[in-house]
Amino acid sequence: MTFSFDLTGKTAIVTGANTGLGQAIAVALAQAGASIVAVGRSSMDETERLCRDAGAKFHSVQADLSSLEPIEHIVAEATAVSGRIDILVNNAGIIRRADAIAFTEKDWDDVMNVNLKSTFFLSQAVARTMLADERGGKIINIASLLSFQGGIRIPSYTASKSGLAGLTRLLACEWAAKGINVNAIAPGYFVTNNTEALRNDPNRSSEILGRIPAGRWGDPTDLGGAAVFLASPAANYIHGIVLPVDGGWLAR
Ligand SMILES: NC(=O)c1ccc[n+]([C@@H]2O[C@H](COP(=O)([O-])OP(=O)(O)OC[C@H]3O[C@@H](n4cnc5c(N)ncnc54)[C@H](OP(=O)(O)O)[C@@H]3O)[C@@H](O)[C@H]2O)c1
Repeated sequence: MTFSFDLTGKTAIVTGANTGLGQAIAVALAQAGASIVAVGRSSMDETERLCRDAGAKFHSVQADLSSLEPIEHIVAEATAVSGRIDILVNNAGIIRRADAIAFTEKDWDDVMNVNLKSTFFLSQAVARTMLADERGGKIINIASLLSFQGGIRIPSYTASKSGLAGLTRLLACEWAAKGINVNAIAPGYFVTNNTEALRNDPNRSSEILGRIPAGRWGDPTDLGGAAVFLASPAANYIHGIVLPVDGGWLAR
C-alpha cells in the first residue's frame, strides 16, 4: 500500500487567505510542499511571510469575489505564475446576522454571491484547466456545520452552506471519473473574525462551548491537516464528502 500527503510540485489557489481559516489552510498546504496562490481583497503580507517561512513559493492576486468579474483573471494569473493549478480551496466567505423575519434582500444576495455563486464559477473556471490537460486536481470547499444544521439568525449563510454541500456532491459526481476530487470541509466553531459576534455574546458563547465535546473552540491550525489530506494523493478515491472538523459537535 502506498499513499502520500506530500504536495511538492503542486500549486494551490486559496481564496480568502489573508486571515482566519484561509490563512491557516494556505500555511498548511505550504508546509506540505505546495506553492500558494492566495486570492482575496485584503493584503496577504502576513500569509506570504508565513508561507515563505515554510519554504513555499507564494503569489497573491487581488480580487473581490462578490462578483464573477475577477474569475477569468484569477485563473489566468495563477496559471501564468505556476504553469498549472492543481488544487483549489474555496474558502472566502461572509456571514450576515439578523432575524429571518427582518432579513434583507441585500444580506441574502451578498452572502449568496460570495459563498455560493463565485465558488461555483471559480470551480468551473479552474476545472476547465484541470480537464484540458487531463491531469485532474483537487477542489476543496469550506462548508460549515450549517451545511447540516439550521442555525439561527443567519438565513442566507445557512442556505449558502447547505447549497455548498449539495454543490460539492454534484461536482464530485460530474468530475470524479475525470480525475478531479471535489470535497468539502465543515469547520465547527473556530476563533476567527467570522465568529467574533458569537464569542462576544456571553450567552451564545457559553452555550456553544458547552456543546463542544473537545471542550474548546477550534484554532485555525486545527483545520490544516484535513485540508492537506483532501488535497493530497491520499484522498484520490474520496469524492463528494463533507468532512466535519468540529471538536465532536455533530457527534453530540
Ligand atoms: N470561523 C468559523 O467558525 C467557521 C465555521 C464554519 C465555516 N467557516 C467558513 O470558513 C471560511 C473562512 O472564514 P473565517 O472563519 O476564516 O472568517 P474570516 O476571518 O472572516 O475570513 C473570511 C475570508 O473571506 C474573505 N472574503 C470575504 N468576502 C470576500 C470577497 N468579497 N472577496 C474576496 N474575499 C472575501 C475575507 O477577506 P477580508 O478579510 O478581506 O474580508 C477573509 O479572507 C468562510 O467560508 C466561513 O464561512 C468558518
